[in-house]
Parts: sequence; C-alpha cells; structure tokens
Amino acid sequence: MKIELQQLKEEALQSIKSASGLEELKQAEIKYLGRKGKITKVLRGLKDLKESERKEVGSLANDIKNELQAEFSQKKNQEGGVKKESFIDVSLPGEKIDKGHIHPLTIVQSELEDLFRSMGFIVLDGPELESDYYCFEALNMPKDHPARDMQDTFYIDKSSLYNKDEENKDLDLLMRPHTSPVQVRGMQKHGAPFRAVVPGRVYRSEVIDACHEHTFDQMEGIMVDKNISVTNLIAVIKELIDGLFGQKMETRVRPGYFPFVEPAIEMDIKCTICQGHGCPSCKNSGWLELVPAGMVHPKVLKYGGIDPDKYSGFAFGLGLTRLVMMRYCIEDIRMFNSGDLRFLEQF
Ligand code: DAH
Repeated sequence: MKIELQQLKEEALQSIKSASGLEELKQAEIKYLGRKGKITKVLRGLKDLKESERKEVGSLANDIKNELQAEFSQKKNQEGGVKKESFIDVSLPGEKIDKGHIHPLTIVQSELEDLFRSMGFIVLDGPELESDYYCFEALNMPKDHPARDMQDTFYIDKSSLYNKDEENKDLDLLMRPHTSPVQVRGMQKHGAPFRAVVPGRVYRSEVIDACHEHTFDQMEGIMVDKNISVTNLIAVIKELIDGLFGQKMETRVRPGYFPFVEPAIEMDIKCTICQGHGCPSCKNSGWLELVPAGMVHPKVLKYGGIDPDKYSGFAFGLGLTRLVMMRYCIEDIRMFNSGDLRFLEQF
C-alpha cells in the first residue's frame, strides 16, 4: 500500500510538471485529489485496513495529499490561475504624494515668454559654448576692444574638447558671458523683420558671494523692423516692467554704454524697497538699475545680414536672475543653483 502511494505521488508530481495551462492542471488535480481521485480513494479505503497499518498508511497518505495540494496551488499561481483576494480598505490613511516645485527662475521666465509672445516675439535658444566671433566680434567688439574686459570670460582649452577637429577647429571658444550673441545668430537665421527673446544661462569668472555667481540667467530681446526708434524701445520695456511687477512702475532712462548698441540706455525703476527715498538696496539713489538696452548698432545689423539703411532695431538684456531676486526678495544668489529643497519648496 505504501509503495502504491509513493508511486501515485510520483505520477501526480510528474503530471503537475508536464501540465501545460490551467485546464490541464485542473484535470490532473481532479484525477488525484478530486472526490473520486486516486489519492482520495486510498484515503477512503483506510477504514478497511488493519488498525496497525491504518495509522501508518493514513499519515503517509495525508502527507502526500497535503504536499500535492501545495504543488498544485503553487503551479496554478505561476499560471496566474489563482487571483489573490484583493480589496480596498477605504479606512486606511492615504499616502502623501511628494509634489515637485517649479524653480523661481522658471516661473518668471515663462511669464516673460508669455508676455513677449503676446507682443509677437518668438523665443529662441542659443549655444552656451559659443565662439569668440558671436560673443564679441559680431557685436562690434574686435580683439583688443576694452569692452571685452566688461565681463570676465571663461575661455575654453580646446585640447579638452571632444569634438576637436570638426567645425570648431578654427574657432576660439568660450562659455558665453551674455545672451547677446543670439542677436546675430537670430538675425542671420530669420532675417528682417525680426522679434525675439532669448532666455538662457551665461557664465562669468566671478568671485562668488551673495550677489555674484559664475552661472546665472539673462534674457536678451531684439526687435528689427522698418522705422524702429528709441520710442518703441522704451514702450516695450515699460510694458515688460509693468507686466512683471503687475502694476504701473515709475521708471527713468539714463544714457549707458555698450558697444553693440548706439545710443545705449539704462532703464531704472524707482526702488521698490524705499519707494525712492534712499536705502542700502538702491545705494541711497532711490533707483534700481533694471534693463540695459539700446538701438542695435548698424555694424551689428550688418553682421546679422540685415541692411542698416533699410532696417533699424533695438535690443535689451535683462538680468533674469537679478529680477527674480528682486521679485521674491531672495537675498543670496547662491540659492539658485544650490538644489536646496528648503529653498525650492517655498515656490
Ligand atoms: N549683454 C549685456 C551684458 O551682459 C547686456 C545688454 C546691454 C544687452 C545692452 C543688450 C543691450 O541687448 O542692448 O552686460
């Protein structure tokens, strides 16, 4: 009897192993463990055995039955046949979902992009690893031009470049210290009339402190068309400033100097902290420098492939990072690239 049981067990295990699909498994289960199954029959026949044999065979038969049942259900699970009972306990507390935050720079940048789009400007991008030609030459700053020292530029050691021999071969490369090179790239690509803003990162070799960073953001703007004048320039920048602060701001215009614009101006706003009375933030002048700008120099238009006798234009350069600092009263510029969640979670 015991030998018979062992044989049955082997047989059953074999058919579990070779069963393909749920249906075959179920059939095999019925064949061995069903009401009229082979193992069940043995268990039923126990009562006819002698007392001494009954105990021993009975316990073996039970063990085999349990073992086979386990094998069957494991294989059925593998075949995906037995679905776990699932239910939703609606009384359990929910899991907190971590929310990401939009970087303050991105918030202001998108607002400005929308504002400029509404005035018919396109949004352009340009390379951050840029040539000396676009950063300086084409902006009316030939080699030796003193204005090149206005920014402390990071120059690139060409031997460190991956792409050494291709298009970069004859170029002096640098990390762009301003977004102005995209003025010329944009004009070359799109021709006149042309309206664009260029938000982006710029790099300068600065000693870092609460007010200075080597990496920060600017937004360049340029508009070229027939009969563009300083009046258009001032109107657009005023629109920009009012849009940015959400109210009419008091502004003033001063002369400035940048080689790529003539005339150059500086647009200031009345100090938002002391309302013009004078405080440390405005160095007691009552005004904050906000937007340097000017009429695009005829030479720069030419570099852009545009005839300065037919077209004129204006350009401006917003210190995007500085604007965001003013808007949200951020006192330390180093927070911007810190990745510090305590800072970012406030926006
Ligand atoms: N590129 C200048 C800078 O980074 C800012 C600037 C001044 C841009 C005058 C302009 C402009 O387009 O007209 O300091």
